[in-house]
Amino acid sequence: MKTVAVVGVQWGDEGKGKIVDLLAADADVVVRFQGGNNAAHTLVVDGEKFILRMIPAGALQGKVCVIGNGMVVDPLALVEEIDGLKRRGRALSPADLKISYDAHLILPYHGAIDRAREARLGGRAIGTTGFGIGPAYEDKMARVGLRFEDMNERAAFAERLERNAREKNALLKGVLKAAPLKVTELVEQVLRARNRLRPYLCDTAAYVREAIGAGRRVLFEGAHGVMLDIDHGTYPYVTSSNCGASAVFGGAGVAPGQLDGVLGISKAYATRVGGGPFPSEMSGALADSLRDEGAEFGSATGRPRRIGWFDAVLARHAVRLNGMVGLAVTKLDVLTGIDPLKICVGYESGKTRFDEVPASRRLLAKVKPVYETLPGWSDDVSGARNLGDLPVNARRYLARIAELSGTRLMMVGVGAGREAAIVIENPFAD
Ligand code: IMP
Ligand code: MG
Repeated sequence: MKTVAVVGVQWGDEGKGKIVDLLAADADVVVRFQGGNNAAHTLVVDGEKFILRMIPAGALQGKVCVIGNGMVVDPLALVEEIDGLKRRGRALSPADLKISYDAHLILPYHGAIDRAREARLGGRAIGTTGFGIGPAYEDKMARVGLRFEDMNERAAFAERLERNAREKNALLKGVLKAAPLKVTELVEQVLRARNRLRPYLCDTAAYVREAIGAGRRVLFEGAHGVMLDIDHGTYPYVTSSNCGASAVFGGAGVAPGQLDGVLGISKAYATRVGGGPFPSEMSGALADSLRDEGAEFGSATGRPRRIGWFDAVLARHAVRLNGMVGLAVTKLDVLTGIDPLKICVGYESGKTRFDEVPASRRLLAKVKPVYETLPGWSDDVSGARNLGDLPVNARRYLARIAELSGTRLMMVGVGAGREAAIVIENPFAD
């Protein structure tokens, strides 16, 4: 395949960053097409840890990175991200990083609105990252958002920014009962970021189209996961974008026929950060030990992640929706020593059994999981580089996950480092 999209099967944090970094070795261009800095892709390269928020994970392989039009971008945070990489010897020039003119801006008032709304929701809060993702996408859809293109004319941009900020301050003060922002300071900050980012702006859809036309390999890097998808996830406990493969077309500006395949990424167990249904959630000592073992604390916000067993019902839903040709299962090593292991294979509500996600997402919050039990393993798997290096029970567990999900196993992650992986089938192999 020449063009591959990597999509999260669960609620984000599946380890997409690691898989993208690994696959990027064989790609020419890596494209983000949705979401913003609510994402946080953690990569460990030569023992050094990097967290990328908006810059595609291909940056550490020295590939061309594209911030597509479907993303929402916080210009202040992006400047910080670029500077952070530069400080660590990974400077990105405009030849390395291309930002779409059409991408919408997340501005400081979006974050303030996001946080004020969440605070007012109290116990019903979504548990957002608080970075203004929802309010920025709202402005986009309401056709009042500012885009990178608007930066072209400094005076007109400053004027619109100021007008928006005053309007949002009225909302913050009058309706949300939150502190307003200092408008002059806000405008100055954003204008400074404007000067830094302008050299990177271009028509990224044309760039990607030409790359594909020239036969180059393009990797589309999804953020979050299918269960956080605005349409197909656990609404309203979702993020404000489509997180599946369908978003590649709108969010990167490529035609449907130009995407050769979709690879799903799933952890060997499940996690979720924020509120909302999680049928296979577990609690107690096992959850705590998995959280510690798997370092399951949000990379964007530091929040402890909720922990659960692998949910095959949701995985099947994600595989089908996205036509996933294969699955990369990450963090297998974290399950070492846990015996027995459980896989959620269905749900029950009263006498009703569900083998598929119930149409009512409210019901999903009430169902009881039905588990299948499998024997675990105790040997360290972190050094495995071939399926044959794994204990037989680990292989059985993986095979069962793939079978229940309705797709084939293509990769397995056995540790945090770039090298800690088993590649059964490389999607970029001809
Ligand atoms: P928002 O995207 O900040 O609006 O947050 C909405 C929901 O999506 C919350 O439950 C967040 O915790 C969750 N979320 C957003 N991005 C990610 C991610 O990259 N990983 C895990 N959860 C995420
Ligand atoms: Mg993450």
